Amino acid sequence: KNMLSWQRTSYHFQPEDNWMNDPNGPLYYKGWYHLFYQYNPESAVWGNISWGHAVSKDLIHWFYLPLAMVPDEWYDISGVWTGSATILPDGKIVMLYTGDALDIVQVQCLAYPANLSDPLLLKWVKYSGNPVLSPPPGIGLKVFRDPTTAWLSPDGVKWRLAIGSKVNKTGISLVYETADFKSYDMLDGYLHEVPGTGMWECVDFYPVSTKEVNGLDTSVNGPGIKHVLKASLDDDRNDYYALGTYDQFKNKWVPDDPELDVGIGLRYDYGEYYASKTFYDQNKKRRILWGWVRETDSEYDDVLKGWASVQSIPRTVVFDQKTVDSPSQLDIVASFEIDKDAFEGTLEANASYSCPTSGGAAIRGKLGPFGIIVLADGTLSEGTPIYFYVAKGANGKAETHFCVDELRSSEASDINRVVYRSKVPVIDGEKYSLRSLVDHSIVESFAQGGRTVITSRTYPTKAINGAARVYLFNNATGVSVTASVKIWNMGSADNRPFPFNQSVDLTR
Ligand code: FRU
Repeated sequence: KNMLSWQRTSYHFQPEDNWMNDPNGPLYYKGWYHLFYQYNPESAVWGNISWGHAVSKDLIHWFYLPLAMVPDEWYDISGVWTGSATILPDGKIVMLYTGDALDIVQVQCLAYPANLSDPLLLKWVKYSGNPVLSPPPGIGLKVFRDPTTAWLSPDGVKWRLAIGSKVNKTGISLVYETADFKSYDMLDGYLHEVPGTGMWECVDFYPVSTKEVNGLDTSVNGPGIKHVLKASLDDDRNDYYALGTYDQFKNKWVPDDPELDVGIGLRYDYGEYYASKTFYDQNKKRRILWGWVRETDSEYDDVLKGWASVQSIPRTVVFDQKTVDSPSQLDIVASFEIDKDAFEGTLEANASYSCPTSGGAAIRGKLGPFGIIVLADGTLSEGTPIYFYVAKGANGKAETHFCVDELRSSEASDINRVVYRSKVPVIDGEKYSLRSLVDHSIVESFAQGGRTVITSRTYPTKAINGAARVYLFNNATGVSVTASVKIWNMGSADNRPFPFNQSVDLTR
């Protein structure tokens, strides 16, 4: 144990030690949720990338399992990189991943479970014919990676999958078709491309229902369905998505709103969140999103801690009908109300307001900031405000800014402090609502039921464990704000090695 060991999270997923990055091949199989992840078994910095493996009954309490794959073939000797799982109709599981071959070229490789009757899927076999794909003509040798989960092509027999890349500065997604996951044809053109967005890492592509709240299996298409395309921008280190329509015959995806295209529009999270991946949970008929939350302290501290990175709490992806349909009350944890008459009279015109450049949480405006302060000490010398600020935008309408201010979140040196910001649509009749998951050194904050999300790493030195406080605050000068809050104490998920050879209750 070292001085920073209190920063280890208690109900977020982290390996027992060392470095982790992207979530890989998440799936539900024979009663277990499986999470694989980019993992360095040897140190708390990136390198020697292998696939870590853990299982859970509920996506919160995890058992650590032995490594699923290590770099031991020429085609992945420099790293077993990110990949995705596809469950075939006959129950077989296909894992496609990127091999970093001799540090010279990125190739796609096939692996499958050695024993499908093992619910833990402990042993993985790499296909003897690997690699199954290498960069096609015109694609750089080192910009060809992270295959998606496959979906059925319109003939109902073959499978398609996407792989991210770039051509000059244009981010692109290639699509391949295969009958057996061993030999592939590249389809003409790209699924989509966006100039100026650079390398697309960890592309994700999946359907969402505009009518129903349940998630959809990746192959579903038809009326009432839109497709999400997500890319993790290597240059920008953020996860951008857009809603659009997938024409499976032309194999083209078109964004609903070209101004909100992939990489220039919406993000999954406006804080620290990257290389995410969804999977369809056939157990509960929902689509679950995992995302890698890296450290924002120094590498020195990571080495001292002996670990680096956390996975976010798994999130459910649903189409937000509220932004198109009528408003309704949300399921909230903290909500804030402003008197409607006072609101209209006080709304200040401030189209250029932006949390980072407008003084963060420390200033006072007519209609904000108001919110909560987490991981604060008793004198508020440390604390992380999560807040709303309302002002009139350029279009003359009220705009709500949602922000997390890290400027005073830690008195430690060597820490990258950011004021994260975005806007969040607040529909007539809705209260301002937020939910924050605070876990030692990570805070995941969801505004308006998750319409805008900000994940932040905070490293308080005083507001730790029992010394940490939560405050409500209202710095608005123009209005009083009525708040209601519920705070639950979270237990510890108690993640641990899988108890082989012991008879224990695995459901916990
Ligand atoms: C994203 C990424 C992927 C790659 C993996 C390597 O964080 O760079 O593109 O497959 O990490 O660890």
